[in-house]
Amino acid sequence: MEYLDFAIELARAAGDVLNHYMDREKHVELKGQANLVTIADKKSEALVIRRILERYPSHTILAEESGLSGAHQGEGGKWIIDPLDGTTNFAHGYPFFSVSIAFEHAGSVLCGAVYDPCRDELFSGARGLGSFMNGRRLHVSDIHRLASGLILTGFPYGVREKMKAAMGQFEAFMFASQAVRRGGSAALDLCYAALGRCDGFWEMDLQPWDTAAGLVILEEAGGRVTDFAGNPFSIYGRQIVASNGKIHDEMVAVLGKCTVSEVDGV
Ligand code: IPD
Ligand code: CA
Ligand code: CA
Repeated sequence: MEYLDFAIELARAAGDVLNHYMDREKHVELKGQANLVTIADKKSEALVIRRILERYPSHTILAEESGLSGAHQGEGGKWIIDPLDGTTNFAHGYPFFSVSIAFEHAGSVLCGAVYDPCRDELFSGARGLGSFMNGRRLHVSDIHRLASGLILTGFPYGVREKMKAAMGQFEAFMFASQAVRRGGSAALDLCYAALGRCDGFWEMDLQPWDTAAGLVILEEAGGRVTDFAGNPFSIYGRQIVASNGKIHDEMVAVLGKCTVSEVDGV
């Protein structure tokens, strides 16, 4: 598929930019209290956008650092880009981060690629064509009980304002699952569920560029993705529950019992 091949090419090229800056001055800046941006985020995003617009001048782009660009009608399709998912890890030299590139057309994400340059692991997926990691077909895990599951999560940059809700969910999954991990790259978390390295993932307040590519990759590996109530997932909604499918209802039930409102004190 043309768009998938291009997403893979872009993700690898952007991954080379991230690798280049791993051993160099990263020019870390604060966008918010704990929200960082580095020269690698900016250079990676600039490279991806330039290449897309050279090839598809009529397409729209939604990228984390620069927002919307390209043709704004979006009739040709929309590229959804996280040039560096896991900036905090990257800034500290912690080797768990990725590039995420997805292609959406007529409101549906058709394909995506996520690249982990530290492990040279390229995840990709397209609707109806399956998902792959470095050429190997992906399948979700065969864990049927949440109590036996390894669950991943992450916290939004605004977690200080939602600490009770975030910790309530974290505690509930600590009780209900075998173990919970917080890696720091939502795009890779979704790919790990597709590969069967974990069994489920949930997070509040994600953005389209965090989830778009991972969504197709996980669904094509046999996984299920919804919001916290078990309703259909939208990359423009902010809640995600993603799983191997088998433990999904149990995960939704755990979140349903977390009665604290998503905004502390409300
Ligand atoms: C972040 C990562 C992290 C998640 C945060 C995201 P960024 O993206 O995906 O795992 O917990 O909510 O914002 O800022 O590193 O691209
Ligand atoms: Ca991100
Ligand atoms: Ca990012």
